Amino acid sequence: MSGYKTYRISELIAGDQADIPVKVKGWVRNKRESKNVIFISLNDGSTIKNLQVVGDPQIFAEHLTRLINTGCSLAVSGNLQASQGQGQAVELQAEEIELLGEADPEMYPLQPKKHSLEFLREIAHLRPRSQTFGAVFRVRHALIYAVHTFFHERGFYNIHTPIITGSDAEGAGEMFRVTTLDPQRPPLTEQSEVDHSQDFFGRETNLTVSGQLEAEVAAQALGLVYTFGPTFRAENSNTSRHLAEFWMIEPEMAFYDLNDNMDLAEDFLKYLTSYALEHCQDDLAFLDKRNQEEENQKPQHLRQEMTLIERLQFVSDNKFERVTYTEAIEILRNSKPHKKKKFQFLIEGWGTDLQSEHERYLVEKHFKKPVILFDYPKEIKSFYMRMNEDGKTVAAMDVLFPGIGEVIGGSQREERLQQLKDRMKEMNVPEQELWWYLELRKFGTVPHSGFGLGFERLVQFVTGMTNIRDVIPFPRTPGNAEF
Ligand code: 4AD
Ligand code: MG
Repeated sequence: MSGYKTYRISELIAGDQADIPVKVKGWVRNKRESKNVIFISLNDGSTIKNLQVVGDPQIFAEHLTRLINTGCSLAVSGNLQASQGQGQAVELQAEEIELLGEADPEMYPLQPKKHSLEFLREIAHLRPRSQTFGAVFRVRHALIYAVHTFFHERGFYNIHTPIITGSDAEGAGEMFRVTTLDPQRPPLTEQSEVDHSQDFFGRETNLTVSGQLEAEVAAQALGLVYTFGPTFRAENSNTSRHLAEFWMIEPEMAFYDLNDNMDLAEDFLKYLTSYALEHCQDDLAFLDKRNQEEENQKPQHLRQEMTLIERLQFVSDNKFERVTYTEAIEILRNSKPHKKKKFQFLIEGWGTDLQSEHERYLVEKHFKKPVILFDYPKEIKSFYMRMNEDGKTVAAMDVLFPGIGEVIGGSQREERLQQLKDRMKEMNVPEQELWWYLELRKFGTVPHSGFGLGFERLVQFVTGMTNIRDVIPFPRTPGNAEF
């Protein structure tokens, strides 16, 4: 029996343990070799930091040192000791090296140099081993944990809502169909339409665009609930902020009005950013540096004023600006880019839907802080939002972030049966499909509110990654489902 205990590198790297026998397993990032010594940078994914392994080429048979290359996997046993070199507190003096899996240096695509994000997207099966993606995915995990902690500590219950559904919660018709009918010869009705009564569920079904409607059911029993699940949108938008499959966090709160909803959204985002600042220091330090290098490539006037860490600090420390849609339109109409016709999309007047260039102007140029816009024209929002007294606006709210635009969309819900029916009729939302949603308004209806946070947009903000494809392990976008 050897006396080596297995550790993950994160447990050793701080340097508070030395002179102990350890075994570590990981992938070689880099190897340097001279006649008398071989240095191996080993990473096991537990931290952005590599463990330096020092070996004596005399001890390790020549073939072994030749087979140790970037990308191969090793188990190394030896003595952990204070490092003589610069840049690390401890190093591992190898006594035994076991080659677990080779990586041919001629073939392995991830070399110890900077690769473009576009290239890394083409090797989604290997990119988690790069420093950048390792950091992004560890931060992503920390944020998932923080989401559950935040709600658990506030007495919310996590609810799993269905992924396959019969209803279009957003009424935007951007759904992926779910069917087991023969695509070549589906059964037809007398009207020659596809007969979904013969389909798997006996009706038309889709992948969900939102768990909200089901979360409303749960909130009207459990009071405070949230969902955190995958959502799917077949919108053909090839932008740096849209995915066809993304994760959404949707809290739903009985007895909350729009103000309570905005307060919760603001607290939530502040909690998440400060959680990352506190718990992801090494990864954020790396991403901050990476972000600054990227910024330095840009012309001066396009550079962000704050560094990544300053931006996170800023969000967690400052009150968000709350502005009505109507006030926002005024600001935009009086803005320089509007007067000089610099916006790609014109602000036609009250009622125009805001484009991301407008949202970003408000956040980045005008207020220079996160903004919550509320009370939107009913025409540009969903059927379930509560009608305001003016009969023209609904109690909707969007939270807008610098560099990202909309991170959260939410509203107070229409809890009055007749008003809800009227809106559904106006917007052609079929009542018979949502009979159960309407019944919630018949039996013990209460004022309630909720919102949806696009999880990948949050991860983008926290990691400073400019393309949403780089914050989810396997991005789904139009024309792309390779991995
Ligand atoms: O504004 P949305 O469409 O709101 C809803 O779905 C509501 N049912 C939420 C609720 O009130 N419970 O989407 C919410 C958020 C957006 O603010 C955005 O951050 C994100 O989801 N989002 C997307 N993220 C990535 N790719 C897409 N295609 C997205 N569409 C929306
Ligand atoms: Mg929205």
